[in-house]
Amino acid sequence: MQIRKAVITAAGWGTRFLPITKAQPKEMLPLGTKPLIQYAVEEAINSGIEQIVVITALGKRAIEDYFDRSFELEYFLEKKGEIGFLEEIRKLSTLVDVCYIRQKEQLGLGHAILTARHFIGNEPFAVLLPDDIIDSKPPLLKHMVDVYEQYESSVVAVQRIAKKDAPKYGIIDPRTISDHIHEVLSLTEKPEPAQALSNLGIVGRYILTPEIFNVMQVTQPGKNKEIQLTDALQLLLKQQAIYAYEFSEERYDAGTPIGWLKAVLSFGLRNPTYGQELREYLDKSCK
Ligand code: G1P
Repeated sequence: MQIRKAVITAAGWGTRFLPITKAQPKEMLPLGTKPLIQYAVEEAINSGIEQIVVITALGKRAIEDYFDRSFELEYFLEKKGEIGFLEEIRKLSTLVDVCYIRQKEQLGLGHAILTARHFIGNEPFAVLLPDDIIDSKPPLLKHMVDVYEQYESSVVAVQRIAKKDAPKYGIIDPRTISDHIHEVLSLTEKPEPAQALSNLGIVGRYILTPEIFNVMQVTQPGKNKEIQLTDALQLLLKQQAIYAYEFSEERYDAGTPIGWLKAVLSFGLRNPTYGQELREYLDKSCK
């Protein structure tokens, strides 16, 4: 079955970015002139997704405004003759069919995805966490859609991590099939390094079969007393196989201030308009 729908989770408080996230959704932090969430939306579109639901929460209205039309701004740009900006702004609201569900209580990633159950219905779907920016062409999600088509099972994205960082990730126990593909034998959310069953950490891209919803409903709160997607996947393993797609492209954890700064610099340096000037500035100021 084709993967047509995606869930993008944007309901967290963004505590690592306080105080800015008191009044500004983390997902709207800029990377160049685009907000983080737009990278996830574009990745979804370029992977064949036709409908997106964004899980939001209190204080996230800027996201809805961003993907909506703004007639006042369009009028202003038209009057000023700013045709380039006008086209870009208009294109934004036509990118894809986006709708929103508010998660009323922030009970964890698993719970956030469960709120999308009625939107998804009985079909496999993608999940993208906009904190994770993956610099890959074709997009990481597209590769995962291909793996889904091969196995017709859930697929998680994984990357080699330093074992000391295991407490930041869901970790899989793999049975390696090929260079990029592993069968998942078990999953643990944020284990201590000594308990980590491998150095393959889950990154925020998933393809899930709809059976995950029934499983999520009985998943008990786990790490940090939250309903974890990793724990739900561990339960799903009792019914169905799960695969992991290992990628080696650059990934930025833009959900932390240092990861976001690295992404800003890296994207900035490669920007055709101001990359060269930024490089010269850095070369001079790093001397
Ligand atoms: C979430 C997941 C975790 C995964 C990570 C990837 O954790 O729970 O399994 O490894 O995303 O970014 P979070 O970073 O939201 O705490």
